[in-house]
Amino acid sequence: MEKGELVFDGNEKQIFATGEPDKVIIRYKDVGTAFNNIKRAVFHGKGVLNNAISTITFEALRDAGIKVHFIESISDREQLCLKLEPVPIQVTCRNRIAGSLARILGVEEGLKPQGCILDLRYNNDDLGDPVINDDQAVALSLVTAEELRHIKSVACKSNEVLTELFGRAGIELVDFKMEFGRNAEGELIIADELSPDNCRLWDARTGEKMDKDRFRLDLGNVTGSYAEVLDRLKKTKR
Ligand code: C5P
Repeated sequence: MEKGELVFDGNEKQIFATGEPDKVIIRYKDVGTAFNNIKRAVFHGKGVLNNAISTITFEALRDAGIKVHFIESISDREQLCLKLEPVPIQVTCRNRIAGSLARILGVEEGLKPQGCILDLRYNNDDLGDPVINDDQAVALSLVTAEELRHIKSVACKSNEVLTELFGRAGIELVDFKMEFGRNAEGELIIADELSPDNCRLWDARTGEKMDKDRFRLDLGNVTGSYAEVLDRLKKTKR
């Protein structure tokens, strides 16, 4: 696949055009950012690890019949993906209360709700990605009410698939953030990545954090933990 011009240079990923109008190449960088870019660091090898982990998570979703933008991994840090029009909302699916929700609700991290909690953020850096409700998302024409119902159903199904995938690797999927895009036919498809950068992953036995919280909270061993996630996922495939 011919690699064309750089069309988007993000904090953690770059997007390149290809010879085909409906496909792009996404390149995973080694940069890590947190708290809306306030915190930034380079973690050598993180891009390679996230490409490999995201390949496994996207393949698991695709095998379950869920539409994802991922087509194939084409190098150690690049994926060939469908070109989509981004939908400016982030969907977070939470199996335990942690991170921002624990802070907002003033509860201890780890509280397990009945079922999963879905919440929405408006993907807007200038506003700091504020939490919004369904009515606000529809009122701003970010999505239609019907699209929102579809997105929520895909998020719940993805949660089941990913919880099972990580569970087999001895890892608890605490929460994860998904983004969606529309193809030329207006179909909603999962975009972005599903890696320790946007999933909270706790060791199922010890509760140790194995995701980006290691960077956010200065816990150290960021790439070591990501490598452990990949290693365990690979072992479950053998
Ligand atoms: O911080 P918060 O608890 O809202 O994060 C929920 C999930 O969304 C976590 O898995 C986190 O890694 C992910 N997230 C993300 N990008 C952000 C904020 C959160 O991927 N900008």
